[in-house]
Amino acid sequence: MQIRDVPNAVRGTVGQSPLAKAGKGSGRGEPKSEDRPEGMARAAWTAACVAHPKGTKMADTLTAPGATDCYDTEERRALYRTILERRDVRSDFRPDPIAPDRLARVLLAAHHAPSVGFMQPWDFILLRDEARRRRVHALFSGANAEAAAMFAGARQESYRRMKLEGILEAPLNICVTCDRSRAGPVVLGRTHIRETDLYSTVCAVQNLWLAARAEGLGMGWVSILDNAALAGVLGLPEGVVPVAYLCIGHVRGFRRAPELEAAGWRSRQPLSAHVHAEGWGGAVAPEMRGRLDRLQDTIRAGSFIDGPDI
Ligand SMILES: Cc1cc2nc3c(=O)[nH]c(=O)nc-3n(C[C@H](O)[C@H](O)[C@H](O)COP(=O)(O)O)c2cc1C
Repeated sequence: MQIRDVPNAVRGTVGQSPLAKAGKGSGRGEPKSEDRPEGMARAAWTAACVAHPKGTKMADTLTAPGATDCYDTEERRALYRTILERRDVRSDFRPDPIAPDRLARVLLAAHHAPSVGFMQPWDFILLRDEARRRRVHALFSGANAEAAAMFAGARQESYRRMKLEGILEAPLNICVTCDRSRAGPVVLGRTHIRETDLYSTVCAVQNLWLAARAEGLGMGWVSILDNAALAGVLGLPEGVVPVAYLCIGHVRGFRRAPELEAAGWRSRQPLSAHVHAEGWGGAVAPEMRGRLDRLQDTIRAGSFIDGPDI
């Protein structure tokens, strides 16, 4: 039996105490989910399981053998649900503030993103002040007028109808920045692809976005902004660039489909058309193509999350 009740991040060799406390098991083997005492909260069990016999931190060790097993179905359901139900939110914000514990958790999720050379080049600027947000909104309005003019005819009309930011409606804005020189001039893994610091920062944004959804918070990314002007409004030092300007808050509801899709702007592509074998354009096995198509069908039908495919 594998450890299933303990998140991977904290799974590991177990000390004597959890099993001993549980009054079950020998105390010599791995913790087992069925050993979690009735009434003992999962978090408490997790905390107990991270105690290491030698007193070392679990972060320094490999997860216990067996803990590499995949998460159980309900845990995977929660993960895929978060991914599929995350939306870019622009117009459905409620004004009520975000509880500090929720905000701290989503920032923590962002901070645990992967980063090139463990550079962690990100910073998070929290913006609540209305005057400053109005200045950012003015930047958006200018850029958005320029953007609209880049589309022709009916496409431009359609663009103008869409609401593409929630800067003033959301109770909180967050600017995620990238310090391009954080880890010195030569960074492990970034020697040949300079932009990997920016990619790392985007990973942090995605973590934040998913954690926000799991916390019942909507988030929208506003990229119709002049970055240099934004850097000025936020007082960014030399070498620190804005990567993402985010609007975040509780929402009246999460839309089932991307707003751009609902507006007829662009629809989701068939995944199987974007998977290649061995090189660009290489056909994948028909069995895999069929599987990908079928999964997308179940998502469209709304039956993926609660269905047998997870
Ligand atoms: C890098 C990036 C920039 C984006 N910029 C904007 C933006 O300026 N305004 C906007 O309304 N949505 C923006 N979006 C959101 C996308 O339009 C949205 O993710 C896409 O339509 C799919 O919808 P979904 O996120 O609800 O699944 C941005 C998304 C990303 C990843």
